[in-house]
Amino acid sequence: MLNAEQITQFHQDGYLIVPGFKNAADIAALRARAAKIVDAFDPATSQSIFTTKEQEKKVDHYFLNSANNISCFFEEEAFDEQGNLRQDKSLSINKIGHAMHDLDPVFSAFSRGPALAKVAEQLGLQQTQIWQSMYIFKQPGIGGEVRWHQDATYFDTDPISVTTFWFALEDATQENGCMWAEPGGHRSPMRERFIREGDQVRVEKLDSMPWPGDATAVPLEVKAGSLVCFHGLLPHYSAPNRSAVSRHAYTLHVTDGTTSYSPLNWIQRDAGFPVRGFI
Ligand code: FE2
Repeated sequence: MLNAEQITQFHQDGYLIVPGFKNAADIAALRARAAKIVDAFDPATSQSIFTTKEQEKKVDHYFLNSANNISCFFEEEAFDEQGNLRQDKSLSINKIGHAMHDLDPVFSAFSRGPALAKVAEQLGLQQTQIWQSMYIFKQPGIGGEVRWHQDATYFDTDPISVTTFWFALEDATQENGCMWAEPGGHRSPMRERFIREGDQVRVEKLDSMPWPGDATAVPLEVKAGSLVCFHGLLPHYSAPNRSAVSRHAYTLHVTDGTTSYSPLNWIQRDAGFPVRGFI
């Protein structure tokens, strides 16, 4: 439940930090489940990496299929020149995605409930639709950078409605690669749109407005258990993690079912696997 000041802050800055939204037991359960998924993942089945650089070239079938399943992606720097893992598998995975919230009971429980439904309603989402879940490891030493972007690039609706629910599973600091955002930047135009046509993806340039610089960006340093909600047009990025500690986080991308969801978005659902909300 948010107070009036928090709601005003969300609209003013384009984001809101809610400390202590999840408790230690919730976090421990999700972390344990994620560790099990990684443990069961056989790297021989895919050495797909996740990177936000040159996405059009790096997207493969494994990535596209992950829209509606549970897949593991390696950090870009996970492998040495010989193709061997530089560190243990458990310290090499960049993220798990993208449908755990619907396919895994532990993830589903973390991703739903009256508290989240209330926050979404207070932020103006009338009919929540959770399209994507990501468990992000931001591994020690090799945790990859995520370049400046807006999440609406990947979840286009008319009008724009995508809202990100980002949960800190560990303390996020500047040392371990916390997010940075531009307060008020959600009032800037959508720069790019990520389009999927069949097995092809491309990034369409929509607006030439430059990304924010260091002068206007602020670090979102938050404690484990914090929920960060942000507007789909808020520019944000995160630096590489060169520290000795990981920075686990979990995110949900949620749109409003009263808007129209672009048929060109990379994640689509059909009647056999319908999109669901927070309840
Ligand atoms: Fe993002």
